[in-house]
Amino acid sequence: RTCSLIPCPMTFGQPFTGTDMGPELLMQKGLPSMLSNLGWRVDRVPEVLGKSFGSSSSSSPPPSTSNAKNSSLVGLGALSLAKLCLKKSSSGNFPLTLGGDHSISLGSLAGVLRSRPATGVIWVDAHADLNTPWISESGNMHGMPVGLLMEGMIPEGKKVEEVEGLEWLGEGWEGEEGWPAYKDGEKPPVLKPSSIVYVGLRDVDKEEREAIKSLNIKYYSMYDIDRLGIGAVMEKALEHLLKDDPSRPLHLSYDIDAVDPGQAPATGTTVRGGLTYREAHFVAERIANSGNLASADLVELNPTLSDDVGAEETVDLGLQILTSMMGKSII
Ligand code: ARG
Ligand code: MN
Ligand code: MN
Ligand code: MN
Repeated sequence: RTCSLIPCPMTFGQPFTGTDMGPELLMQKGLPSMLSNLGWRVDRVPEVLGKSFGSSSSSSPPPSTSNAKNSSLVGLGALSLAKLCLKKSSSGNFPLTLGGDHSISLGSLAGVLRSRPATGVIWVDAHADLNTPWISESGNMHGMPVGLLMEGMIPEGKKVEEVEGLEWLGEGWEGEEGWPAYKDGEKPPVLKPSSIVYVGLRDVDKEEREAIKSLNIKYYSMYDIDRLGIGAVMEKALEHLLKDDPSRPLHLSYDIDAVDPGQAPATGTTVRGGLTYREAHFVAERIANSGNLASADLVELNPTLSDDVGAEETVDLGLQILTSMMGKSII
């Protein structure tokens, strides 16, 4: 099988510089050869939009017209990634996206959902990322990738394509190279509330909490992990997504801030009380074992937000989570 490795050094979905350094560090530490050693053919894709785009040193972004900060840059980055993931998943590859902040998952998921609409999502995160520009308290788009794609999250009378930069998610999209218009009854990519499971939640905004309840979205918070154990949680999570279609493709979106800040300090929105070192691995190992994993992201590494030791430990953990999800087992 072929894994398309896609570096996506986006920073504009959140306020910090340094979130663009993740892909390079993971590559330097040998991710491609680790994947080859696991039996993958590795298809190395050039950086999405390149350094000058993702780099925080570029000139200040244009102001946004809605409560979605930097939406034109975030939207453009997500569209570029969506095109790539559409192309790579359509040819049967495993698109593995290296962030960058979590706003990029708007792109990877949109691309994967367009070519594999049955995809189920496992969202491993301290946060629900279920905001939209109409309910977000911060306006940071790394808190919105799930909300912008989820059926039932856009308020009555509003349209996602009215957000500057997100025109490509609307029915009236005219199409361009790599992301064609929606025609012949095709709808823009959308995620059903029953098609996602959260693992690791512990910092959820009020409006997000209400949406999780009213849309009946399945979640396993840190409370549930403490109560049931990570083993039972992962069985239930997979059972929820696979019960009707055991061969359904799965997408894993792994935010490194799901892990306890003791193990993963180098990220922008740390929340204490997260996954332990082994739980962080187990989640990835168990999903790999399902045999259904078909695409994934690892996001929110920011080596500038801790001391050198913490940065190195966080990147190393990211690398280990990646190899675990791609099939590395203990024995
Ligand atoms: N809920 C908060 C917000 O919307 C935090 C989101 C953090 N997201 C992340 N991908 N780290 O601003
Ligand atoms: Mn998070
Ligand atoms: Mn909060
Ligand atoms: Mn996140």
